[in-house]
Amino acid sequence: MTDSVIISPDVSWSDLSLPTPIALGVMASGKGSNFVAVANAIREGKLNAEIKVVIYNKAQAKVKEKAEALGIPTVFCNHRDYSHREAFDEVLVETLKAYQVHWIVMAGWMRVVTPVLINAFPDRLINIHPSLLPSFKGIDGVKQALAAEVKIAGCTVHLVRLEVDSGPILMQAAVPILADDTEATLHQRIQTQEYAILPRAIALAAQSCLIS
Ligand code: GAR
Repeated sequence: MTDSVIISPDVSWSDLSLPTPIALGVMASGKGSNFVAVANAIREGKLNAEIKVVIYNKAQAKVKEKAEALGIPTVFCNHRDYSHREAFDEVLVETLKAYQVHWIVMAGWMRVVTPVLINAFPDRLINIHPSLLPSFKGIDGVKQALAAEVKIAGCTVHLVRLEVDSGPILMQAAVPILADDTEATLHQRIQTQEYAILPRAIALAAQSCLIS
């Protein structure tokens, strides 16, 4: 069986031009491969944007060194330093505003966010999740899809609303599940599609506002 993927909406980079560069902030908790995909789309002249700062919340997160290698400022915000989620989000908002970002990308950000963050950047907070939402919200989206024995998995980029992994969908990619898939092999194929849709979805969201 071929691994035929469907991406929707099917927009090419020529349809996704932005008149002025948008100022992005990235928040990530892990290895940061989605951050790299966004940075690559910018470097290749596809996504008209600048990543002003990468915030990470785990000391060991590999995204830190990846951002530093590209000369992008990084800020460590440790959620464990705060007694409640709102206090942590206040610090995120302060940091993002200090770097004058207008769009925020949660690229593997493994924290529940509060109205403090959502309301500070209305309709400008973007999340990527490794499932075809609204299925398989929360942690282990890929594992959940395998356990449910669905035949098609995928990934979703959406604007963030209060309910976890919910909000207006910008773009999705559907990835067939193969008979011998493990969580690792399926997640790897889903991630390849994440790298395709995340930068495009950012441009799509920005186009719909046309404010940088
Ligand atoms: C991605 O697969 C992303 O969809 C997922 O974390 C991974 C981060 O990978 N996000 C979530 O599960 C959010 N609920 P990366 O660090 O290599 O970009």
